[in-house]
This record gives sequence, C-alpha cells and structure tokens, in this order.
Amino acid sequence: MDKIVIDGGRPLCGQVKISGAKNAALPILMASLLTDGWCEFSNVPDLRDIRSTIEILEYLGARVERSGRVVKVDGSGLRRDEAPYDIVRKMRASVLVLGPLVARLGRARVSLPGGCAIGARPINLHLQGLASLGAKITLSHGYVEAECSRLRGAEIYFDVVTVTGTENLMTAAVLAEGKTVLRNAAREPEVVALADALNAMGAEIQGAGTAEIVIQGVDCLNPARIEIIPDRIETGTFMTAAAITGGDITICNCLPQHVEAISEKLRQTGAEVEVGEDTIRVRGCRPVTSVDVKTLPYPGFPTDMQAQFMALMAVADGHSLITETIFENRFIHVSELRRLGADITVSGNTALVRGVAGLSGAPVMATDLRASACLILAGLVAEGTTVVNRVYHLDRGYEALEKKFASLGAAIGRVS
Ligand code: EPU
Repeated sequence: MDKIVIDGGRPLCGQVKISGAKNAALPILMASLLTDGWCEFSNVPDLRDIRSTIEILEYLGARVERSGRVVKVDGSGLRRDEAPYDIVRKMRASVLVLGPLVARLGRARVSLPGGCAIGARPINLHLQGLASLGAKITLSHGYVEAECSRLRGAEIYFDVVTVTGTENLMTAAVLAEGKTVLRNAAREPEVVALADALNAMGAEIQGAGTAEIVIQGVDCLNPARIEIIPDRIETGTFMTAAAITGGDITICNCLPQHVEAISEKLRQTGAEVEVGEDTIRVRGCRPVTSVDVKTLPYPGFPTDMQAQFMALMAVADGHSLITETIFENRFIHVSELRRLGADITVSGNTALVRGVAGLSGAPVMATDLRASACLILAGLVAEGTTVVNRVYHLDRGYEALEKKFASLGAAIGRVS
C-alpha cells in the first residue's frame, strides 16, 4: 500500500493548476445515461472515484472512451438497471445512478450505501423525493429498488440540505412528466454545474444555485459537450498550504467566487489573498491568527475544508473553535493531528484547537479523503518526517496532490 512521506518545514512557493472538480464530474458523468449518443466531457480529473464511475457506466451498458482529461460516454447501450454492492461499496456516490436509471428505464436496483468514516449518511431524502415523483420504493436484501412507468413532476421539500439528494432528484425529474419544484435545494457550485450540463443536453432547469430549483420535464435529452468546473476543495487545500507553510502560491485555473468563504477565513488568519479572474494568490504570514469556523452548506464554509483548516489552526497563535454541522463524525483526523503534537479537544460537534508553536513529524493514518489532505498539510509544516499511511483515500479525490506540492518546493514523495 502506498504512503506519502514528507519532510516538513519548507515554505511552498510558485504556481499550481487546479484540476476538474470530482464532485461535479461524478453526477455529470452519471447524467450521460440520460442520452443516446456520445457525450464528451473535458477537464475530467484522473481519480479513483472517476475510474469507479466509469466502471459503473460500463457495467450498466454504456460505452466509455477516455483519452487524458477527455471522457466520452455513449449511453445508448444502457441495458442493466442495477448498481451492485461490489461497485457501490467502493464509492458511495454510486447512488447517483438512481435518478438517471429510474428516469430512463423506469426502474433501478441500487445497493444501499452504508455509513462511512464521516457519518451515517442516510439516503432517505433521495428516496422520499423519488417516491414523490411517483416511483414505488422498496428496500430488500441491502438493495433499494425503485420502479415506475413514467415519473410525474412534484413539489419536493428537503428538510436537510443534501447535495447528492438534490442532484439525484434533478436527474430524475428532467425526464418526468410536468413540472418539479425542489425546495431547500443545495446551492453548491456542483449542483449548478450539473444543471448547466443537463440544460446543455436539452433539459429545462431554472433556479440552480438558489434554494428553489424548477424543472420542466422534457421527453428526451441529447448528447452534449461539457467542461467540468475547477475543484473548489482542491483550490482551498492549496490556499491553506500557502498559509500553513508561510509560502506564496498562485493558484491558476480556479473559480475564486466558489471559495469566498475560504478566502475570507484565511484573510482573518492574517494571510494575504489576492483574487484575479481565474487565479488566487495566497501569501502566508507569521504568526497565524486563530479564528473560529463553522461548516455550513454553500455558500458557507465547506465541511470538505474543515480538516485542512484544522491543521492550520493547530499551528496558529491562540484558540480556535471549529464546529462541524454537516456530518456527525467528521473529527477522526483529530487523534492523528494529536500524534503530530496538536492540542485539540473535541466535545460533541465542536473542536477546541489550542495552537502550538510547532508540530513534529510522525507516522499517521489517513481515515478519509479530506483527513488525508489535512495530515499532508500538517506534515508540510511539521519538523522532521511525517508518513501518511492509507493514501488510497487521497487518490479517490485529489489528482497528483503530492506531485503538485513537490512542484511548489515541498520535500514530499510517494513510496509503495
Ligand atoms: N442527509 C440525510 N438524508 C439524506 C441525505 C443526506 O439526512 O437523504 C444528511 C447527511 O447525513 C448529512 C447532510 O444531510 O448529515 C448533508 O449530506 P449531503 O447529502 O449533502 O452529502 P452528500 O451529498 O452525500 C456531498 C459530497 C461530499 C460533501 C457533502 C457536503 C459528493 C459526491 N459528495 O455528499 O463530499 O462533503 O456533499 O457538502 O458530492 C468529499 O468530497 O470528500 C465529500 C465527502
């Protein structure tokens, strides 16, 4: 199993280019099942989750061609309606096939994703929404089965904001008969990117990016060419890398408007954040000022940046309260940060981080994707050698992260 080995203590400087967004690419690739003919997607990152998505699409009968960052999918051969356990257990976002399959075939059988390292993560709202659209939902033998002749538009209210729930229902409702209104919908840029992609295929979706999305069902969708938006969490991770190492990084090919909450928090820590049209330059400063942070649905501070920000607060001057409101168990990185010398106490959904003068390198274990990035950031500033084990989590969602850090001057490498 691969490990990342870091010799910390060097400020990172230079330019880095951001890859396409994993969480935008996943639902958009799944949406290609809604069309016949070749869709072409560009700026698709090379990640384990993308390979898992391609595996599902091929299993279902789609043809997929990949050349570098371009992925072409032809959904016309769609013949299976099932996403089996062996595929779903590798990637819980596989549940995103549910909407397209029910819309296209009138039936779907998808292995229920279990909980994961960060929380229980039920999909009850996806299922309630599909039921409101007229699907008959049954749960048996660990699978959810959804069936209907044709979905009918409906008014759906989410009592919790859910990103993939909103996406699943959008991809289901595009081919439904009549109008669907999604209330308290997720406003994340990935939801907007999916709506834009579906509209490019001929869907009629309005309001994406607000809490109310209106979808007028159409009879069929057509193939389209779609460019995947830059990854805002990768962007935020490099911004934090500049701040934590006291470096100077210019992040290119990003969308600064998607990371405003992160930019604002970093400015409060004392970092200089200079925003261009598609670039952000972050210059770290010493000492780092402690600030409190609370995760919220977009446009609030993203839960997917909480662990990385905690690494920064671990070496800040003062105390910081970090409150996680999205997932009930997203503090597993705390015990690993403590092994590097961080002083953190968790009570319920709040972590009290007392900044320390320095961290010291040690072997640590990554427990999920963003925790991996957090430990690498901590390793970049720790004195001595940090070894991050179980980096397969990292490979799910960051493209060549260690190579990008190395190009900015980090002493970092991968060993098998
Ligand atoms: N929830 C329910 N019922 C549902 C759906 C969600 O109670 O039917 C709850 C969840 O348990 C959670 C909250 O609602 O407490 C929000 O979860 P959400 O459904 O928004 O999360 P998700 O759609 O499963 C996506 C991203 C995550 C990201 C979250 C929050 C994808 C593929 N995944 O997950 O990304 O953390 O939104 O922004 O888009 C990551 O990339 O590392 C990652 C975990």
